[in-house]
Amino acid sequence: MSKVTVIDHPLVQHKLALLRDKETGTKAFRELVSELAMLMGYEVTRDLPLQEVEVETPITKAAFKMLANEKLAVVPILRAGLGMADGMMNLIPHAKMGHIGLYRNPDTLMPTGYYCKLPDDICERDTIIVDPMLATGNSAIEAIRLIKNAGAKTIRLVCLISAPEGIYAIQKAHPDVDIYVASIDEKLNEHGYIVPGLGDAGDRLFGTK
Ligand code: URA
Repeated sequence: MSKVTVIDHPLVQHKLALLRDKETGTKAFRELVSELAMLMGYEVTRDLPLQEVEVETPITKAAFKMLANEKLAVVPILRAGLGMADGMMNLIPHAKMGHIGLYRNPDTLMPTGYYCKLPDDICERDTIIVDPMLATGNSAIEAIRLIKNAGAKTIRLVCLISAPEGIYAIQKAHPDVDIYVASIDEKLNEHGYIVPGLGDAGDRLFGTK
């Protein structure tokens, strides 16, 4: 079963409360999403395996630890996921970036991929999907499916705010994918928005409403 980690670090919780505030404007919103992604990235990468390496300091040679697999990939789900991508990439600048775009099929109401560009060597990469809101979970489920099909080594899902429904849906569909969130909110409303949430993450990031 997927491990669910709620990142309750005081700075994360503080910035998340600022982000939720309806008075927070586009510029501050974008900065906060980026900062939150970086702070969360610190926890998300906590269990990456290390290997011993010999390093020569100006004083002597000694054994130290470095990442056993430096091959990471960050994959934002378009469009709101883009807001988290640079924060995560600041923390792991050697990562490669993929992109997944999904639209809701008007007949089935299910998310369908319209764009999927992943690093060629994704099968060697530990992959981190970023998307600010985990609502029904349908988009993340489809994104995970596409990334699994491409053969990613491991997959982690990182969202700022989640609904219990979304967490449950991911656990059911992809029990091997660990989930990292800064909050599990109360519920989804009848329009599919997270309550209390923060409204539409994409519109608030890009100023489209
Ligand atoms: N997507 C959003 O941007 N906000 C929600 O509350 C749910 C899905």
